[in-house]
Amino acid sequence: MTEHIIEVRDLVKHYPVTRGVVFKKTIGQVKAVDGVSFDLRAGETLGVVGESGCGKSTLSRVLMNLEKPTAGTVHYKGQDISKLSGGALRRLRRQIQLVMQDPYTSLNPRMTVGDLIGEPFEIHPEVAPKGSRRDKVKELLDLVGLNPEHINRYPHQFSGGQRQRIGIARALALRPEVIVCDEPVSALDVSIQAQVMNLLEKLQNELGLSYVFIAHDLSVVRHLSDRVAVMYLGKIVEIGTEDEIYERPTHPYTQALLSAVPVPDPTLRDNKAIIRLTGDVPSPISPPSGCRFRTRCWKAQDVCAEQPPLLEIRSGSDHPSACHFAEKREIVATHEA
Ligand SMILES: Nc1ncnc2c1ncn2[C@@H]1O[C@H](COP(=O)(O)OP(=O)(O)OP(=O)(O)O)[C@@H](O)[C@H]1O
Ligand SMILES: [Mg+2]
Repeated sequence: MTEHIIEVRDLVKHYPVTRGVVFKKTIGQVKAVDGVSFDLRAGETLGVVGESGCGKSTLSRVLMNLEKPTAGTVHYKGQDISKLSGGALRRLRRQIQLVMQDPYTSLNPRMTVGDLIGEPFEIHPEVAPKGSRRDKVKELLDLVGLNPEHINRYPHQFSGGQRQRIGIARALALRPEVIVCDEPVSALDVSIQAQVMNLLEKLQNELGLSYVFIAHDLSVVRHLSDRVAVMYLGKIVEIGTEDEIYERPTHPYTQALLSAVPVPDPTLRDNKAIIRLTGDVPSPISPPSGCRFRTRCWKAQDVCAEQPPLLEIRSGSDHPSACHFAEKREIVATHEA
């Protein structure tokens, strides 16, 4: 059996909504993440996809123990991360690293690339003793496809794609096992996106990394992901292998997201039913009762007033989908990969 490196169970993260300046009064809760469970297997890439505000970045912050969950647990190699302190917490901080979306704002403009990539060694000197740090940084620059001779340059002297490579080198400095990539290519031009994705894939193969790869768009994560979780308003609505999600999606929300993915081949395009979602995403402060997608779903019926559990589907398919009608397998997107 494959080892589970991370196990997330019934994870909830709510943020209070307050009114008043002096006497803050809580008037509601933003249900950013609202009951999420999944496993990350050693060496795999789990894509996490959903529209803006569905809770992807909140999930990544709780996964990294940067924020405490309101309820639920995250286990890293069998240990509950919210219970770690001292040396065990420091080790966790080394082993899970984050690559963020915006290479423009996530790098301090007044630090050289050498100092930026070497900064994690200040906090974890055991990884690289002082005398060896410059060489280590040069190795990291080389590993991410940058010129090691540029070690004394500043972030503004690099292009957007190169800056994202600097962010990746910095995340790799402490030799982590897991990298959470929160929309690492969304701010880049399409041609540069492919180069950075190829780099991430190469690094995964060379270093045996596990990735949680967050994106807005199903097309971005397809190539890299072994499995994909689709999120809507703080919940996972469907999770499965690349093949299950892209070729045999059963949740109407996944089907709608897929139908929005452009198909390059015009002969295949005609076969594809276009699903246009109407209405906006409801507020995570007061999400719809029952199935959260039912206010925008063309299949919605009375039964949808009850929240469908994310269970293995009874027949027809084999991956979890939180839709009452999921057992009726449908192939909406008929195009081939
Ligand atoms: N610190 C916070 N305090 C209050 N509300 C928050 C906080 N962080 C996030 N939220 C809210 O939680 C919800 C989920 O936000 P989150 O940033 O996790 O979404 P996301 O899926 O990453 O969106 P995007 O694709 O735009 O990055 C949003 O409604 C957001 O406004
Ligand atoms: Mg986000």
